[in-house]
Formats: sequence, C-alpha cells, structure tokens
Amino acid sequence: MNNNFTGIMFYCKVREIRLLLNMNNIMRNFNAKQYYKLFEDWDDPVIKSHEKDEFKLIREIKNLEKKTIIDLGAGYGRILKTVSPLVKQIVGIDVNPEMFKELEKRANVYPNVTVLKEDVTYLSKLLKARNIVVHKPLLLCLQNTLGTIEGDWQKVLQGMKKVGKKYQGEIILSLYRQQALRDWGLMTYYHGSTMNGEPDLSKCNFDKGWFESKTGYTSKWWTDEEIKKLQELLGGENLQEIKTAQYYIIYLKYS
Ligand SMILES: C[S@@+](CC[C@H](N)C(=O)[O-])C[C@H]1O[C@@H](n2cnc3c(N)ncnc32)[C@H](O)[C@@H]1O
Repeated sequence: MNNNFTGIMFYCKVREIRLLLNMNNIMRNFNAKQYYKLFEDWDDPVIKSHEKDEFKLIREIKNLEKKTIIDLGAGYGRILKTVSPLVKQIVGIDVNPEMFKELEKRANVYPNVTVLKEDVTYLSKLLKARNIVVHKPLLLCLQNTLGTIEGDWQKVLQGMKKVGKKYQGEIILSLYRQQALRDWGLMTYYHGSTMNGEPDLSKCNFDKGWFESKTGYTSKWWTDEEIKKLQELLGGENLQEIKTAQYYIIYLKYS
C-alpha cells in the first residue's frame, strides 16, 4: 500500500470519528426548513440587505464565469440559485446532516455544483483527499458561518489562507458585529428560537459578542478589534469592505 493511500485512509477514519462525535452531542441544531424560514421567508430589512450586499460583492468579481467557488459551511444551499449560473463551478461543503440533505437535493438541479459532507476545519486536506483541483478559487464564508463553526474557527481561517495562497484565490468573509448583538441580534434569536432555542440572558456576554441559548446554541459576534486581527491573520490584499451597523464583509485576494 503506498503512503498516499494510507494517508487518505487515515484521514477518512479520523473524519468519520469526528463526524460521529459531532452528530451525537456537539453539533448545533441547524435545520434546513427552519433556517430557510428564519433567513429567506422573513422580511427583516437587515437580513435582506446583508444577503443583497453579499451577492453584490460576488457579482462584481472580475472573470466570475471562470471561477470555482468553495462555499464553506454551505448550509442548505442558499446561494446556489443565484450564484451557480454566474460561475464555472461551486463546491459546497457542510458537515451538518440535516442541512446537507437539503444541500444535496438542491445541488442536483445544477450541473456545476458539487457538494461534500465534510468538516471545513480540514479544508486543505479534504480538497486533496477528494481530488478537487482548483485554480484561483473564490472561498466563501458567508452569513457569520465563522461565528457558528463546529470546531476551531482559527483552523478554518488558516485553511482558507493556505488554499487561497496556494492557488492565488480570493476570499469573502461575512461576519456579524458585536455591537449589533444586544438589540438586532437578540431580536433575531427570539425570532428563530424554534431552531436555536430561547436566548439565555445569563449566559450571553454582549460586550464580548457571545450569544448562548437555553438549548446550548452558541454564536460569536465579532468586535472591531477581533475583525482587525482576523484580517491580519488572513493577510492578502484587501480589495473591498462593506461595513454596516450589523455586519462586516471582507473581500481580499492572494496573488
Ligand atoms: C450560519 S449557517 C450559514 C449557512 C450558509 N453559509 C449560508 O450563508 O446560508 C452555518 C453552516 O455552517 C455549517 N458548519 C458549521 N461548522 C462546520 C464545519 N466544521 N464544517 C462544515 N460545515 C460546518 C453548519 O452546518 C451550517 O449549515
């Protein structure tokens, strides 16, 4: 057996164990139907303008039709309908079995979408193990996915940077801001409490941008200082930023 094959087998085993652990007790209770209701069926002006700004940034990217998009924490496939006609290929990655079921179903409609039930904290390894070759990819981490990541968010950023640098890629990182958690954020969590559970005010820390619910759902909202550090960690060339009272979207590239 060659070393490469043994390595891949080992990686698959570790991944399987991690997924099982996650499924049993660690994973957030995301649910495609409820998530859809919370984000797409709801006429909240901030949710709508956040989505509009994310899409605007994507649409304005040069040579978009030649790009492969890697959507980290792709959820139920929110972006597929809008983005897949504009790009060469989308690779959507999600680890949550409930979300993945819907992602897989939606992906079937589009010939240029591939989906992977994988853990994005191992981005570089998983692309290699799945033989996914990308050139100048656009890596997306939208709608504060980084704040609800299963596992170590720093590993996700390091993986994005590694892949971005290696293949001269671009990154769009879309975050919720700490300042907005106390009012707008809390209101959205009450609205979505069937999925995320009722807010547990004794465990939330608004100054630190920490949300926690009575069912143990957590989410990190980012302070300006943290956002600056994330940008330093990613490096690259900052191409654009969209900053509102509630969200912060960063667009950068590696050359
Ligand atoms: C806040 S939702 C956002 C979904 C999607 N990005 C969107 O904008 O509609 C975060 C998603 O990331 C997924 N996720 C969290 N941690 C992950 C991980 N380590 N690997 C892969 N997916 C992950 C969750 O299952 C969930 O579907």
